[in-house]
Amino acid sequence: MADTTKNTDFSETGVLILAAGLGTRMKSELPKVLHNAGGRPLVAHVLRAAQALSPSGICVVLGHKAQLVRENISANASGWGITASLETIEQQNLTGSGTAATEASGFIKKFKRVLILCGDAPFIRTATLAAMASSKAEAVVLTAMVPDPHGYGRIVRSGGDNVARIVEQSSTTPEINAIKEINSGIYLFDSAALLKALPLLRPNPPKNEYYLTDAIEYIRAAGGAVKASLAGDYTEMLGINSRKQLAQAEKLLRLRKLEELMDSGVTITDPDTTYIDDSVSIGQDTVIYPGTHIYGNTVIGANCAVGPNAFLKDMRIADNCEILLGSHLAESIIAEYCVIGPYARIRPKCELAQKAKVGNFSELKAAKVGKGSKVPHLSYVGDAELGAAVNVGAGTITCNYDGVHKHRTVLGDGVFVGSNVNLVAPVTVGNNAKLGAGSTITDDVPAGALAIARARQIVKERKS
Ligand code: UD1
Ligand code: CA
Repeated sequence: MADTTKNTDFSETGVLILAAGLGTRMKSELPKVLHNAGGRPLVAHVLRAAQALSPSGICVVLGHKAQLVRENISANASGWGITASLETIEQQNLTGSGTAATEASGFIKKFKRVLILCGDAPFIRTATLAAMASSKAEAVVLTAMVPDPHGYGRIVRSGGDNVARIVEQSSTTPEINAIKEINSGIYLFDSAALLKALPLLRPNPPKNEYYLTDAIEYIRAAGGAVKASLAGDYTEMLGINSRKQLAQAEKLLRLRKLEELMDSGVTITDPDTTYIDDSVSIGQDTVIYPGTHIYGNTVIGANCAVGPNAFLKDMRIADNCEILLGSHLAESIIAEYCVIGPYARIRPKCELAQKAKVGNFSELKAAKVGKGSKVPHLSYVGDAELGAAVNVGAGTITCNYDGVHKHRTVLGDGVFVGSNVNLVAPVTVGNNAKLGAGSTITDDVPAGALAIARARQIVKERKS
C-alpha cells in the first residue's frame, strides 16, 4: 500500500476522517480505530491513504475516548509514515455521521472541496480515491457492487452515473433491498454545497441519528449534481465493526502486502504462513520461506534467503544474505553476504560486517562483528567488538555482566578463540592473538600472543 500517487487534483481539498463512532460491536475498552490490523491501527491506514493524495488539510473527527485517540495519533503518526500536519476535532453530540460533518463545518469551510473518509475502513487505496476526482459534480459518492449488501446504504441511481439518493438499511423496501450497489461511506463534496445541505438534515428512526447520506437528496434539490464513482474492488470498502471483521482485515491486508512484494520480484513460497508488515521493504529475487515473520521497519536487500520460520523485527539486511531456519533477529544491521543461523539469535544493537557468520545456537547482543568473522556454534557474545577474520570457537561466552554493570569485550583482527573460552569483561585481546580452548581469560592479551588459562591436565594411574 505504499501508494505514491501524487495528485494535484486534491490541492484545494480537505480530507475529513470520521472516527467518532462508539464501535460497540468490538466489545472493547480500546476505541475501534486504535485496533491493529496489518501492523498498525485502522486509523493509520486511512491516514496514509489520505496523505498520499497531498490534500490541503487532514482532520480527524474524534468522539469516543477522544483524548486517548488524539494522544495515540500524535505519539505514533511519524512511525506510521505520516508527515502531513493533522487536525483533530471532538464531536460533542454523538448522533450520527451527519452531526460529525456538521460539527466539522469550521474545517470544511476552509477548502473548496472536502473528501470524507471513515476511520474504520482501512482497505481504501489512494488510486481509488484519486479516481473520484475525475467526476465533476457537487457530490461524488464512492460505490461498489457487493455480493451481500445487507447493512450498507443502497445507491438509488437516476440514469447514468447520477445518484438520486442513498437509502439506509433501516429504511429499505424489498425493492431497495435487492440493490447490490452500496455506499462506501466515502464522498467528495463541493464544500459550499455540503455546508448548505447540512443544516437541513433531520433525525432518522430508529435511533434519531442524523445521516450524512441524507445530504445527497438536499444537494440534488438545490440543483447540484451527484455522481457515483463505482470502484472495481469492493473489498476496499469493507468497514471493521467486529473482532471477526478485524481478523478478516488482518488477512486481507497481509495478502495485499504479500502480493505487492511478489509483484515487485520477491518469491514468497507459502503466502498462507508468511507474515510481513506493510512497513517492510524487500529487494528483488529474495526468497521468503514458510513460517516467516517480518515486522516493523525492516529492510531486506536483493538476493537474500529468509526462513523457514525466521522472525525479524526492525532489521536492516543488505543484499545476498542468508537468514536460515528458526533464527530470531531484531534491531540490528547486517552487511552483504552474511549467513545467520540456523537457530541463531541476534538481539538489538548488533552490526555485522560483510561475510560474517553467526551459526547454530549463538546469541549476540550489542556486538560488532568484523568482516568475515565467525561465531558459528553455541556462543554468547554481548557488549563486544570483534575485528575482521575473528574465529570464535564453539561454546565461547563473553562474561559481560558482573552483577551490577555491563562491560565490553574487544577482540582484534584475526583473533582465534578456542572452544569453550570465557572472556571476563572488561577484556581486550590484541590482533592475531590466540586463546587456548577452555580458558577463562580475565586479563588483556597482547597482539600475537597465545594465552592459556586453565589447569594443566594430570593423568594418574588407577588401582582397579
Ligand atoms: C455508514 C453509511 C452507509 C454506508 C456505510 C459504509 C451513514 C448514515 N451510513 O453506515 O450508507 O454504507 O457507512 O460502511 O453514514 N461516526 C462519527 N460520528 C457519529 C457516528 C458515526 O464520526 O456520531 C463515524 C463512524 O466512526 C464511522 C462513520 O461515521 O467511521 C460511519 O458511521 P457508522 O455508524 O459506522 O455507519 P454505518 O452504519 O456503518
Ligand atoms: Ca461502519
